[in-house]
Amino acid sequence: MVVLLITPRAEQAENWRSLLSEVLKDIDFRVFPEVGDPSEVEVALAWKAPYGALAGFPKLKLICSLGMGVDHLLQDPQLPADVPIARLVDPNMVEQMSEYALYGVLHFHRRFDVYERYQNEKRWEELPLPHTALRRIGVMGIGEIGADFARKTAALGFPVKGWSRSPKAIDGVECYAGLDQLPRFLAQSDILVTVLPLTSGTQQIVNAQTLAMLPRGAYFINMARGGLVVEGDLIAALDSGQLEGALLDVTATEPLPASSPLWSHRKVRLTPHIAGLTNPETAVYPIAENIQRLRDGRPLLHVVDRSRGY
Ligand code: GLV
Repeated sequence: MVVLLITPRAEQAENWRSLLSEVLKDIDFRVFPEVGDPSEVEVALAWKAPYGALAGFPKLKLICSLGMGVDHLLQDPQLPADVPIARLVDPNMVEQMSEYALYGVLHFHRRFDVYERYQNEKRWEELPLPHTALRRIGVMGIGEIGADFARKTAALGFPVKGWSRSPKAIDGVECYAGLDQLPRFLAQSDILVTVLPLTSGTQQIVNAQTLAMLPRGAYFINMARGGLVVEGDLIAALDSGQLEGALLDVTATEPLPASSPLWSHRKVRLTPHIAGLTNPETAVYPIAENIQRLRDGRPLLHVVDRSRGY
C-alpha cells in the first residue's frame, strides 16, 4: 500500500517513515513532492498541504489529517470530493491542549498577569484572591479536547460550563448548545476558553457582540483557530476593560505579522501555535489504526462530516 506524506515539516518525514513502517508492515512510504506513480497512492497523511496537492490520485481512499483540526484540508478548493478525511485524535495531544488551557486559567485566576507587571515595577502588593468556586470557566467546543479540559478544570474546583453546536453531556459540567443558548453561556464565563473547530458556523464567532455578553473584566483564552475571532473587536474589548486579559495561541494570520498590535498589548500573552503539537511518536498509532481499518475493510474512525466542517 502506498502512503504519501505531505507536510511542510520536512524534518519529520524520516521519523514518520520509520514509525509507520514499524507499526504497519508492507507500506511503500513516499514523501511529497516525490510521489512516483500517482495512480498507486491510496493513503495521504497531510498537514497544510499546498492547495491542489491532494488532487490527481485516482485511487486515493483515505486522507489522514496530521493535525486535530481539518480546516487546513477543507479550505482546499481542489480537495477530492469523495475521499474520506480522518481527523487526528491523539490522547497525547489532547493532554497537551488541556495543559495549555489549565495554565491559562491558573495564570489569570491567580493574577499572574498583574503580578508580572508588579515585578517589573518592583511593587510588593497583594491583590484579593477570588474563590475558585466562584471563578466560572466557559469552554466553547466540547469535543475530545474541550471535554478533557472541562473535566480537569472541574476537578480543581472551578465551576465549568460548556457550549457546543449540538447538545453534549459531561458529568459535572453544565452544557449549553446552539446559538440560542450562547448568550446565557457567555454571561456566566469569567474565563472563556475556545476549542472550537473553524467552520462556516464558527468563523468570527468571537466578536464585539459576543464579547459584550461576557461578564465585565472576563478573560479569554484561544487555543483553537485565529479565524474564530475578530481581532479588532478583541483589542477594543481589552482596551475598554470589558476583557481583563487574553492568552492567544492562534491568530488570524500566522505567523502573526510584526505590525500586529497584539504583539505588544499589555493585556495579551501570545504563544506561536504550540498549545498542541503533533508528535509522530504518539500520533502514529491512531493513524496506523485507521490505515489498518481501511486495509481490513472495517469502518474508519473520526471521519469528518464535510457538511459540518469537522
Ligand atoms: C493544530 O492546530 C491542530 O489542528 O492539530
